[in-house]
Amino acid sequence: MIFGAILAGGVGSRMHMADMPKQFLPLGEKPILVHTLEKFLTCRQFDMVYVGVHPDWVGYTEDLVAKHTAFAEDRIAVVPGGEDRNGTVMNVIAAIEERFGPSEEHLLVTHDAVRPFVTLRMLEENIAAAREHGACDTVMPAVDTIVESTDGEIISAIPPRGRMYQGQTPQSFRMSLLKSLYESLSADERAVLTDACKICVVRQYPVYLVRGSETNIKITTPGDYKIAQAMVRELSDD
Ligand code: CTP
Repeated sequence: MIFGAILAGGVGSRMHMADMPKQFLPLGEKPILVHTLEKFLTCRQFDMVYVGVHPDWVGYTEDLVAKHTAFAEDRIAVVPGGEDRNGTVMNVIAAIEERFGPSEEHLLVTHDAVRPFVTLRMLEENIAAAREHGACDTVMPAVDTIVESTDGEIISAIPPRGRMYQGQTPQSFRMSLLKSLYESLSADERAVLTDACKICVVRQYPVYLVRGSETNIKITTPGDYKIAQAMVRELSDD
């Protein structure tokens, strides 16, 4: 079976808006999370789409789903998120295995709730790459030179730009593979992970690249939110 995992368990501290996590903020006529969820629902390959949200926001999210995506309610499940992003991924996997049982065949397409401009092409290419290779990441070639500084004061390295990419999401996996690699990591190894692909990279499992897009932005700061609002206005003017 093929599952979506929309990761919405964060609190959006860099957005500096006290009343609600950024994934619930309006973008045009509906919340950011609903835009993202609708993109997943347009991909008929998904048997179920899971949304992992902060435990305090489960009821609120269930109401949102009922209001905006009632037509697909039987394909959506809301589950409590974890302490960190990968904790949310693991909670989604636990919920899937509880309902459908473990299987080597299950594929999982994980995605940031705050990337509402993901496309059907990216979702389909992620599913195909996860099926063929076991793990994939959505990336864009770096346009700026990437500079490394280990102390934050002076440059320690300038890697060749042609080999640098910027990671986006979706990131997709054979579900059993991701779970077993994650379970093999120590608490210290888990603590330094910033995303799900790094679980594979740390254990030297190859992660294939899928082409992202410049418009697949992550809404992290108030500036990003303004850009996303302008993009939605532009699309609705078309
Ligand atoms: N996320 C999650 N579970 C967590 C933490 C983050 O599902 N425990 C999700 C966020 O909701 C977001 C995605 O991971 O959709 C990318 O994370 P980020 O942009 O860093 O979101 P936040 O953690 O909410 O933001 P901040 O770091 O500014 O607090």
